[in-house]
Amino acid sequence: MKNLRMIINPHDRKSHINKEIYGNFSEHLGRCVYDGIWVGKDSPIPNTDGIRNDVIEAFKKIGLPVMRWPGGCFADEYHWQDGVGAPEERKGVVNNWGHVADDNSFGTHEYMRFCELVGCEPYIAGNLGSGTVRELMDWIDYMTFDGNSPMAELRRKNGRDKAWKFRYLGIGNESWGCGGNMSPETYAEHYLRYATFCRNYSGNELFKVACGPNADDYNWTEVCMKKIRPENMQGLSLHYYTVPTGDWGHKGSSTDFDDKEYYSTICGTMRIDDIITHHSEIMNRFDPQHKTGLIVDEWGCWYDVEPGTNPAFLYQLNTMRDAIVAAVNLDIFNKHSDRVIMANIAQAVNVLQSVILTEGKSMLLTPTYHVFELYKEHQNGTLVYSHCTNDLVSDHMIPAVSQSVSVKDNGSMHITLSNCSLEEEYEIKCSILDTEIKSISARILTDEVHAMNTFDKPDNVVIKPYTAEQCHGGIIVKLPPCSVVAVEING
Ligand code: AHR
Repeated sequence: MKNLRMIINPHDRKSHINKEIYGNFSEHLGRCVYDGIWVGKDSPIPNTDGIRNDVIEAFKKIGLPVMRWPGGCFADEYHWQDGVGAPEERKGVVNNWGHVADDNSFGTHEYMRFCELVGCEPYIAGNLGSGTVRELMDWIDYMTFDGNSPMAELRRKNGRDKAWKFRYLGIGNESWGCGGNMSPETYAEHYLRYATFCRNYSGNELFKVACGPNADDYNWTEVCMKKIRPENMQGLSLHYYTVPTGDWGHKGSSTDFDDKEYYSTICGTMRIDDIITHHSEIMNRFDPQHKTGLIVDEWGCWYDVEPGTNPAFLYQLNTMRDAIVAAVNLDIFNKHSDRVIMANIAQAVNVLQSVILTEGKSMLLTPTYHVFELYKEHQNGTLVYSHCTNDLVSDHMIPAVSQSVSVKDNGSMHITLSNCSLEEEYEIKCSILDTEIKSISARILTDEVHAMNTFDKPDNVVIKPYTAEQCHGGIIVKLPPCSVVAVEING
């Protein structure tokens, strides 16, 4: 066991941690929406208005703040009018991400109902790639106008009298790739035209998100900041996926990996720290007042699909490796919360690094889900100063311990610590400046790195109670290899 020291200064307040950093993303892709979220009203699987009850409850438990929908690449092929009206009259389409039929039974009303049931904010990705300005303008009118307009009338005819309130609107997805293969200059022009006509109706205030860069494409950010300008976009998105091998042709298995591949996954995921730093530096030059937030609306591990499944469905399993990846990413987003105001893991259910997997009527919570559960107390907290002396592990010289500390208005402090080393246990003495500790409670997620939950053993990896000792001026936390610990302190 190695000893480390950590200093926490709760009086050195850094930035507000927007709850939306703990968001999810759901696309009409594979079995994410259909099967994963939506089973239909007549399904034998217990549901509320067609939405799985087990999934609603699971998202409520982690306090899911926001769900992005309907894509992804699919968003730039989605025509919202196909997904409203009587279900039996809806026009089916071919979903080109897998060439499968989509009967459009999950559309605007069903998505808004999902958000109501879970208590999360909607985040709608609008179609810029194959749609029209008018189509998007009509959708906003349909959803948010309380007066009399043909679109508001259509909404009423379709069963919803009152306009919905929603803020987050993405305008195009990956416009540098599947969303139209545009240059940043071309995209910026399209964005401005679309954004002009996405109006605020009936007191609803849109928060417009421009399509941002892929990973380290700093030129894209530079051009968007210069041409669109902060006053015209409240958010700029960033997509960054972690591929263990670094080779998109052979990404590696989600369950069968050795220590070397594990550490290269962690090293690859940590790159997002530098990537966010560089994009933030560019944004700071054009936007010193932080009018535009960085929105990491797709992140997570992308492995080879589970053998025997449709390659286009992007179905993969989820182990303790993914839990460590999630903890490390969430710490990085917390650390950058002065600029990063939302993040959405890809994807919510049955696609890529999911928090939930379903199979028929069964559902399981992945190790990644449990990290969201351990971290939920950071939502809407204030990040405070913390520093940990660290240990560097593997050939990549990765810092073994990652941490976040936040405080809430009621004075409670939340510390999350993760240990990405597979060999070493750490005893961390945390000095907490000028704080009287009245009570401590802690929980832990730890297991062998390949451990996972399966439909046969859904509770194989679960959060367990844990004891963090109080000592003079702070606490002592013992972090086993491959673990994530959450501590709550009340003073
Ligand atoms: O999340 C899967 C796909 O990855 C999304 O559709 C797209 O935006 C990204 O390339």
